[in-house]
Amino acid sequence: MRTRPLKVALLGCGVVGSEVARIMTTHADDLAARIGAPVELAGVAVRRTGKAREGIDPALVTTDATALVKRGDIDVVVEVIGGIEPARTLITAAFEHGASVVSANKALLAQDGAALHAAAGEHGKDLYYEAAVAGAIPLIRPLRESLAGDKVNRVLGIVNGTTNFILDKMDSTGAGYQEALDEATALGYAEADPTADVEGFDAAAKAAILAGIAFHTRVRLDDVYREGMTEVTAADFRSAKEMGCTIKLLAICERSKDGTSVTARVHPAMIPLSHPLASVRGAYNAVFVESDAAGQLMFYGPGAGGSPTASAVLGDLVAVCRNRLNGSTGPGESAYADLTVSPMGEVVTRYHISLDVADKPGVLAQVATVFAEHGVSIDTVRQQGKDGEASLVVVTHRASDASLSGTVEALRKLDTVRGVASIMRVEGE
Ligand SMILES: NC(=O)c1ccc[n+]([C@@H]2O[C@H](COP(=O)([O-])OP(=O)(O)OC[C@H]3O[C@@H](n4cnc5c(N)ncnc54)[C@H](OP(=O)(O)O)[C@@H]3O)[C@@H](O)[C@H]2O)c1
Repeated sequence: MRTRPLKVALLGCGVVGSEVARIMTTHADDLAARIGAPVELAGVAVRRTGKAREGIDPALVTTDATALVKRGDIDVVVEVIGGIEPARTLITAAFEHGASVVSANKALLAQDGAALHAAAGEHGKDLYYEAAVAGAIPLIRPLRESLAGDKVNRVLGIVNGTTNFILDKMDSTGAGYQEALDEATALGYAEADPTADVEGFDAAAKAAILAGIAFHTRVRLDDVYREGMTEVTAADFRSAKEMGCTIKLLAICERSKDGTSVTARVHPAMIPLSHPLASVRGAYNAVFVESDAAGQLMFYGPGAGGSPTASAVLGDLVAVCRNRLNGSTGPGESAYADLTVSPMGEVVTRYHISLDVADKPGVLAQVATVFAEHGVSIDTVRQQGKDGEASLVVVTHRASDASLSGTVEALRKLDTVRGVASIMRVEGE
């Protein structure tokens, strides 16, 4: 074993960074044996000094992250600051000054992954980011390496623990969205400002990263259709139950049937209770991957939290250190397939539509005609009347999102349709 240590600069020492530092210390001997050289924490960059940081030598702590990454003797920079800047500039500087990078930063990777991969490649360095998607769950490496000989057709997952916790609460207790969100906040599962989670921004960043890797195609954050889950109601859950379904916020990355294009989207969807994703409870994450040769694979586990996320960071750190000692690098960006990324209108799926209609003869026929005119075939219809008003629940066969949007627009114009109470996609069948 080499005695000269590999030097690690830790950028950020918060929820994830403090756990990375702890595990590096407590598992130092095992890490050294697995890597073939000791790893030494050479510096820790933070925003504020003067904060007690358990187990960290105060002499290592600095607020000058730029100087730390530019030292020239750093082998690996671990970026767990988060956000776009200064993380992007620091990572780029790390490559320029000879270091490889491990990051947990989904927002940055989804937005600037291509440029960061290019910078890593230009300087012959590694960029690893297993922790950026679904915390501890191994996903990036299985897609990038284990499935490199297969053809992935679909990645369907619950990649945000906060929203899964909220939806699971609504499902199991009959609570409304706000009540379930309040509980998630009280228990620390939701942040004070939950927008990134509940509006699907966090899941969309992960979908962009997963789709890019799965389909060997650059998928930008803007390419991902995004709908949050704040409009999901207790009534939607009752409807889902009547269909033998539950509701999950899903990230769905799909290759088209003819294989020439892909789509990526995040939205709430009904899934059958028999689907493995339906039984993912609380703040857990799970991702279902379908490929030509392997068939169906499911990855399940804690998608966030300091220690689980640090596990993924440490796995990357070991891999990058091994590469460093071998004088090699791991796989870089693979975007050779360069498939067309299609808009949401081309997505084909089933829909569950709830309409408030006038309770009088002929309404059903009128509604059915609108569906037929837009080429959307109806699977089932259920009607319930009360006091001159009625609710009509239509479940369609597979149709394009564009056709469905056209249908809904036309339905809204019917005098007999008082309102469209909800539209929910039905997935996983
Ligand atoms: N938390 C999770 O469960 C989780 C899961 C998966 C991925 N991630 C990702 O991991 C990353 C870190 O998340 P986190 O939850 O650990 O965040 P966090 O608790 O807010 O910690 C951020 C750390 O970065 C430091 N920092 C902020 N701005 C800085 C700057 N300009 N220069 C130097 N240091 C700076 C902070 O310093 P102070 O300590 O002085 O404030 C803090 O130590 C993010 O990319 C996040 O998306 C987190």
